[in-house]
Amino acid sequence: KERKLILAVESSCDETSVAVVEDATKILSNIVASQVLSHKRFGGVVPEVASRHHVEQIIFCMEEALEEAGVDAADLGAVAVTFGPGLVGALLIGITAAKAFAWAHQLPLIPVNHMAGHIYAAQFSHQLEFPLMALLVSGGHTELVLMPEHGEYQIIGETRDDAAGEAYDKVGRVMGLSYPSGKEIDELAHLGEDVYHFPRAMLKEDNYDFSFSGLKSAFINLVHNAEQRGQTLDKKDLAASFQQSVIDVLVGKTVRACEAYQVKQLVVAGGVAANKGLRTHMAAVMSERLPEVTLVIPELKLCGDNAAMIGAAAFVEADKQRFADGHLNAVPGATL
Ligand code: KG4
Ligand code: ZN
Repeated sequence: KERKLILAVESSCDETSVAVVEDATKILSNIVASQVLSHKRFGGVVPEVASRHHVEQIIFCMEEALEEAGVDAADLGAVAVTFGPGLVGALLIGITAAKAFAWAHQLPLIPVNHMAGHIYAAQFSHQLEFPLMALLVSGGHTELVLMPEHGEYQIIGETRDDAAGEAYDKVGRVMGLSYPSGKEIDELAHLGEDVYHFPRAMLKEDNYDFSFSGLKSAFINLVHNAEQRGQTLDKKDLAASFQQSVIDVLVGKTVRACEAYQVKQLVVAGGVAANKGLRTHMAAVMSERLPEVTLVIPELKLCGDNAAMIGAAAFVEADKQRFADGHLNAVPGATL
């Protein structure tokens, strides 16, 4: 049987990544060059700095991905690349590299939506079953996506202001933590208690939208008022209170959406899906309320940005004959 191999490229934000994926489910290599240290001192991703890093890293990442997978260009069936959403300059580096590689080796080019990639990261741990609900939680997005079948997406709810990961990073800055602070807040939260009981925005409203800016403001006000009184609040309790509010809203709305749309499977994906509190709380509530729905959360190292997930999603795009040519451009505001 002929092997089906895709070389996938991801450069939408602050990781340069290239992977070789076989048959949509097997990762032969997944090279991730993180720039996070370069952005830390600015407290966030600086687009121009990101582009420059991608330019420096992309060729090495491609070479390393092929070498680690033990294949060369002649073994590949296609090249896949993230076309959006993301930073325009960052996206263009990956797109240009992928186009050049595809052209040089006469391979088809497959454009992949970054958020679809996050969902398809789940396919490395479990076969996807439809209809499927996906909770996408990352630094730039928070949305509930209904998938009637492979490669078809309907957004049924999304954040009206900040994304969940963005809220983590902003609150982390107020706590004096370094960027990105999601992981550290998660660790602190497990050592503290929900003593401040922040608002659970929109939880009781009859829709699937989210809002995290009110929580962020409540958090900042609490910390600043305490500072003015000369008090410092316990970081562990602050983290635990913030995190519990985020989790209650994410879990509450997601479970309700799964019920309403009678899905077979729930996928939780994106950088914030690495959150230990979210993973355990979602699993507990789902098994109690909807035991018939399978919950799939990608393994930790595949929650953050990586090219293997782009490769997995690309197999579906190829089946649907959704290819691109040399005119492929970046779409910074692409939606699913
Ligand atoms: O998906 P991702 O790697 O990049 C985007 O596409 O945005 O997500 C990055 C986000 C950051 O906001 C980061 O703080 C958050 O994911 N994050 C976490 C955790 N690990 C990463 N948030 C909460 N808990 C974590 N353990
Ligand atoms: Zn992402």
